[in-house]
Amino acid sequence: VTDKKGAGLMLAPFFKLSKFETIGSTNTHARQMGDDGLPEGQVVWSLRQESGVGRRGRQWTSPEGNLYCSILLRPKCTMVEAARLSFLVAIALHRALREFVPQHVPMALKWPNDLLVDGHKIAGILLESKSGVDNELQWLVIGTGVNVANFPKTTEGLPATSIAEVGGSLDVEAIFIRYTEQFLYLYKLWEEKGFAPIREEWLKWAVGRGKPVKVRLADREFSGIFEDLDPSGALVLTMDDGSKKLVTAGEVFFVSQDNKK
Ligand code: BTN
Repeated sequence: VTDKKGAGLMLAPFFKLSKFETIGSTNTHARQMGDDGLPEGQVVWSLRQESGVGRRGRQWTSPEGNLYCSILLRPKCTMVEAARLSFLVAIALHRALREFVPQHVPMALKWPNDLLVDGHKIAGILLESKSGVDNELQWLVIGTGVNVANFPKTTEGLPATSIAEVGGSLDVEAIFIRYTEQFLYLYKLWEEKGFAPIREEWLKWAVGRGKPVKVRLADREFSGIFEDLDPSGALVLTMDDGSKKLVTAGEVFFVSQDNKK
């Protein structure tokens, strides 16, 4: 493992960068920093990962040419509130990548925290946290992987794409800098104003609002109209009989019938 301590890269003073050429997983490293008591703002960036981790225990194949980074935070809130930061990260990525993806290519957000480019998944977000006995958060690690030069041709979930595939700009370092800038701006906004402005911007970019969606639980499926995102981050569906149903992150798969915006 080579740690270049962020050689030469200028991030906002909030961040303390550790840069690697190769690492197991930037999330694992940042979690260790959390356990070691390091202050928030640590950023782990690696050019490749040997054992990148995705959601639901999946692997995140991590060849050189893409972005792999993790940010350590210590927000003063509960674990439930911190889980909502995944929407903030999706927005930060949307804002940052909009500058690198050609303007004619549509981009959208898909509940709970997927970023779609031309209807395909271009980035992954993995939040991991640790809380104390009182449910107070000790640390939160936000891992982000962006398909810049490469994307997996077969996936278990949504089909993937990359910035290269849609004819965008391939400067990983510039993407990383813009992402951290947008992230920091939104994190400060969240500390000051809470989830409301995040929810508003997320809804602005969300795919399929007002359209039918299919939700797949482990043992059954149902459909409804995607109506809203509620203040807790749950998806609000209107069912056939007019009743409202709340869908909670973590327990469902969301299958939009129209991924493009
Ligand atoms: C997903 O399954 O959609 C989430 C993937 C998250 C991948 C990123 S890459 C940087 C960080 N380190 C990891 O091992 N995983 C996250």
